[in-house]
Amino acid sequence: MRGIAYDRFGGSEVLELRDDLPEPPVGPDTVLVRTHAAGVNPVDVGIREGHLSGFFPHRFPIVPGWDLAGTVEAVGPAIHDLAPGDEVFGYLRRDDVQWGTAAELVPAPQRCLARKPESLSFAEAGALPLAGLTAYQALTEALDVGEGDRVLVHRAAGGVGFFAVQIAVALGAHVIGTASPRNHGFLRDAGVAEVLDYAAGPVSAQLSEPVDAVLDLNGGDALADAPQQVRDVARVASVVDPAVNEMGGRYVFVRPERHDLEELGRMADAGQLRVAIAKAFPLERTAEAHDLVAGGHVRGKVVVTLR
Ligand SMILES: NC(=O)c1ccc[n+]([C@@H]2O[C@H](COP(=O)([O-])OP(=O)(O)OC[C@H]3O[C@@H](n4cnc5c(N)ncnc54)[C@H](OP(=O)(O)O)[C@@H]3O)[C@@H](O)[C@H]2O)c1
Repeated sequence: MRGIAYDRFGGSEVLELRDDLPEPPVGPDTVLVRTHAAGVNPVDVGIREGHLSGFFPHRFPIVPGWDLAGTVEAVGPAIHDLAPGDEVFGYLRRDDVQWGTAAELVPAPQRCLARKPESLSFAEAGALPLAGLTAYQALTEALDVGEGDRVLVHRAAGGVGFFAVQIAVALGAHVIGTASPRNHGFLRDAGVAEVLDYAAGPVSAQLSEPVDAVLDLNGGDALADAPQQVRDVARVASVVDPAVNEMGGRYVFVRPERHDLEELGRMADAGQLRVAIAKAFPLERTAEAHDLVAGGHVRGKVVVTLR
């Protein structure tokens, strides 16, 4: 099988294009997917550098990537709701790290997949799952965002942030985002009511009044300032720093969840959720895709395409 893989942790130079990867096993609950596009996320860089090796079993050679859109190739005997030829997308996190999405064939646990939204291309659908689910679960479960809430989204122009601001707008919120000035027009076009420059001093000092909910995608100084940004610290969620729990807010770790993927797909098909692709790379240039994401200034998403 053709794919990108690495045999040791390190920089993007460890990523190799290989034609000799073993074909993945198809267990009873597995959906084997032929990949069209694989979204790239900061966690792919973290795993490649070895930062998560204490949290999950890692088995070399590792194929990077957790996001995917593609076509069902085969299904295990327990799968009845998907069949070869179906178009799907999903966030393929398992409890171990080995069979990632930057390869021709990927074994997917059934719960990690949903049908691809009709309005999205494969590249767009492959860029949506991990970041979209993070934004959706943080806003709906941790922050309970609803009509009329004033919601502050940090890092609003990035992968998670750009989905978060659109979902918050769709939930009826008044959305405030932080970004550098080059991204302010991009965010206003997506319905963000107020845009703040994160380099222009503490965000709390730039707000006219405290907000109802804060989604932190930065950690560090932005999170330390959060108690001054919000009316009630219980409505601060961070996806970066678990220390938010000690502050009285809530740490969010994204889950693969078919229902939530379907909800993201429904929003996309209803025109409420757009996927902004900053750059699409062919599979053999996956190392460049990783480097671009590692730089920390992507507007929207980076994706690797196979077809
Ligand atoms: N816990 C979880 O389950 C979970 C899930 C997903 C992601 N995460 C984490 O969440 C973080 C964000 O992920 P992501 O995919 O959204 O990142 P990303 O796409 O790489 O973020 C890039 C964006 O960040 C902006 N940015 C950089 N520094 C900023 C700052 N100080 N303030 C505001 N914006 C800033 C950049 O805009 P400018 O060019 O304008 O600076 C760029 O648009 C990462 O640490 C990731 O690992 C955690």
